[in-house]
Amino acid sequence: MPLTGIYGPDDFANRPQGHVIAPARPGQARTGPPLPMPSLEWTPEVERATAPLYERVKQVIPPIEWPLMAPTIKAINELKQARGAVILAHNYQAPEIFHCVADIGGDSLQLAVEATRVKAGIIVQCGVHFMAETSKLLNPDKTVLIPDTRAGCSLAASITGADVRLLREKFPGVPVVAYVNTSAEVKAEVDICCTSSNAVQVVESLGAPSVIFLPDRYLATYVASKTDVKIIAWKGACEVHERFTGAELRSYREADPSVQIIAHPECPPDVLAEADFTGSTAHMINWVRERRPRRLVMITECSMADNVRAELPDVEMLRPCNICPHMKRITLANILESLLTLRDEVTIDPTLADRARRSVERMINLKN
Ligand code: 13P
Ligand code: SF4
Repeated sequence: MPLTGIYGPDDFANRPQGHVIAPARPGQARTGPPLPMPSLEWTPEVERATAPLYERVKQVIPPIEWPLMAPTIKAINELKQARGAVILAHNYQAPEIFHCVADIGGDSLQLAVEATRVKAGIIVQCGVHFMAETSKLLNPDKTVLIPDTRAGCSLAASITGADVRLLREKFPGVPVVAYVNTSAEVKAEVDICCTSSNAVQVVESLGAPSVIFLPDRYLATYVASKTDVKIIAWKGACEVHERFTGAELRSYREADPSVQIIAHPECPPDVLAEADFTGSTAHMINWVRERRPRRLVMITECSMADNVRAELPDVEMLRPCNICPHMKRITLANILESLLTLRDEVTIDPTLADRARRSVERMINLKN
């Protein structure tokens, strides 16, 4: 059914004026002086040691570029061991990160679940800030590092904890579901979190006739189309997925009627209407693994198509995709820097963290 209502900052006259999203907390080095910078020279030894990693990415990284990356990759992998660190990477991270230095890769749900199982004392989050916060919420006693604190998200930046309180005042008793693409401050105000993998299941798990679903208006519209629960939405959008259009998808199909098109539910409804399949990043990857289409368009962030092509070279990937500038702030160079200096550490006020953690754990504990 259509959305029951959609609200944004302009709909609340009593919204605190000038309220801005709290900036990422400044990082602090946790222990001791930084380790010395390792040699980043391209040598026969580096070439030999990294050859198995190059095999994983040779479809998407030209041989001429590998000598520029391989020494840093080798240094990161050695330093990770020395530090007792684990690297979590989202599906939107570049192939040299996703396939060559990450210990665990996945969508937002997989990364949140894996974060509950991490044994290492240090987590380096290769993704955006809300993902690092989620890992910190689930591992309050571990050091969670993000290589660039400016790696934000247009969805997380669209809403504050105060906005959630205003929505609750307007709709007393209506439960609130927050997409994980929100700050810890917002997670602390809601009843439960969801990801794009489980959004419909989470909404229905509440057993309520109406649910406030925030902050992504398009994911909310997609959820509303799959359930009888009335959905009240927030006017946030992903700056990467909202740029795709249905007309664009139709033109790919006209050019090659055999092409398969799959899209992320953060896209607008006219885009999803043209897609052969809609799903979270992990669901999209599984769909490709199972179907092995000859020619494919992935309507999502560009690196995901590269990561899938590196794994499944028989799938020809057409590349209309959009880059997430926030995800791309994470680079091999700043991952290395992060491991050398133990910066930037993600910190969350413990009282706020206790409330935010409940919303994330409630989602993780839902039975499949
Ligand atoms: P998922 O990986 O959960 O599908 O999320 C996509 C996304 O845009 C994360 O920022
Ligand atoms: Fe946020 Fe969109 Fe980037 Fe994901 S792709 S981090 S939702 S801006």
